Amino acid sequence: MKKDYKLPDLSSARRRNKEKSERVEFSIEDKYLNLGEGKKYHIITHGCQANQRDSETMAGIMEALGYTVSESTDKADVIIINTCAIRQGAEEKVYGEIGALKRQKMKNPDLVIAVGGCMTQEENTVKNLIEKYRQVDIVFGTHNITSLPELLYGVYESKSRKIEVFSKMGEVIENVPVSRFGKHKAWVNIMYGCDKFCTYCIVPYTRGKERSRRYEDVLFEVEELKNQGYKEICLLGQNVNAYGKDIYDDYDFGKLLNDVAKIGIPRVRFMTSHPWDFNDGMIEAIKNNSNIMPYIHLPLQSGNTDVLKKMNRRYTSEKYMELFDKLKKELPGFAFTTDIIVGFPTESDEAFEDTLKMVDHCQYDNAFTFIFSPREGTPAASMEDHTPKEVKEERLQRLNEKVAYYANLNNQKFKDATVEVLVDGISKKKDNVYSGYTKENKLVNFTGDNIEVGEFVMVKITEVMSFSLNGVAIEK
Ligand code: 5AD
Ligand code: SF4
Repeated sequence: MKKDYKLPDLSSARRRNKEKSERVEFSIEDKYLNLGEGKKYHIITHGCQANQRDSETMAGIMEALGYTVSESTDKADVIIINTCAIRQGAEEKVYGEIGALKRQKMKNPDLVIAVGGCMTQEENTVKNLIEKYRQVDIVFGTHNITSLPELLYGVYESKSRKIEVFSKMGEVIENVPVSRFGKHKAWVNIMYGCDKFCTYCIVPYTRGKERSRRYEDVLFEVEELKNQGYKEICLLGQNVNAYGKDIYDDYDFGKLLNDVAKIGIPRVRFMTSHPWDFNDGMIEAIKNNSNIMPYIHLPLQSGNTDVLKKMNRRYTSEKYMELFDKLKKELPGFAFTTDIIVGFPTESDEAFEDTLKMVDHCQYDNAFTFIFSPREGTPAASMEDHTPKEVKEERLQRLNEKVAYYANLNNQKFKDATVEVLVDGISKKKDNVYSGYTKENKLVNFTGDNIEVGEFVMVKITEVMSFSLNGVAIEK
């Protein structure tokens, strides 16, 4: 194969410049518009909310090209795999999936397999895909989603593979089509990328520099969602506290939260806030708007200051605790969750105990816990790591037991309470059993009659578990 592509490289992905991100309007050239006529697409999504939202963009572009959605891979003419690179396990799953598609491709050589998302921003992954996975026709990076029309056209025209992965991106692209997967809950990107460079994390490399969308564009999208009847939105960014810093002097996340809340969608959430720079403006906005939901995800990562320093988290355990206590005091009734990594290189038994102590202090409603996974090209991947795997696994188990204990303790407050639930779905196993979330983001399974997905229902909680609540809908 003629090499007409450039491999991504992590060292240039690391570089940052001070230039403001440029705003670019997306459009599809006329010659691509009927590319998908009579054809079907299927997207497999891995990873975080940013990927979910990217898949909705991919779906929007595919539909703009005339493709229709296929619920399964076997009837699809184009299969897109949107990958995640956050931990080794996520990557292995994707390789397994691509491997399994080989058979389908052999049966149907016209099938187009496209691989996108965070994994394709890694040099070695792209090399691997090109050399060992001949069934893959298109490899496109997180910055190249809007090139899908051109890439597909290229595959159909030349019957050859297409690879396009940019290592850096300084743009914010607007007016991109979207086909949302949910009818009552929507993701809204407010910024892309991350400049924090926590030493274990691949995201700043795969998603590029922090780029905020203009607030007018965000507010316009939220207005549209309100007019379409959406009940809940979640403002998305790797680090929402940094919103606006790259383009404004006097408009920040606190202001955006206020302005978004005023539009009046019943439930407004945001994801994820870094403890660094969680400022008073944000707290005020949250306090002043009852439609901003009482739920905050505040990643801790470690409770030990030395480890935090090696992680480049920019706060000490004392500072985290101070912020946590302030939020808890100022925002009564809020639920708090966190992310924690165990087995980071140099984490000693004592350092791990500090993490447990912090969990005892914060008594989180839930925590997402992970064993450190070295990511090639990140500083932590080359730090010396002497902790045996079994010790890391044991730490994870001890941590999880503690997390479950406090999750249960927090949920006890809901016993016999009546809560508002936004209905997400109907149980596949049992008739009249529904599920949804409370304002505090607690999962509720409940029974009821004549209930529709997307409506608010008052539910009386009858039974409390560590990670979910059971209840009965109150007669309307
Ligand atoms: N190993 C383990 N966990 C990681 N996370 C990010 N990078 C890694 C890694 N290399 C976790 C962090 C982050 C969450 C999304 O994933 O806890 O907050
Ligand atoms: Fe990764 Fe840290 Fe950025 Fe979060 S803030 S995406 S953990 S580098």
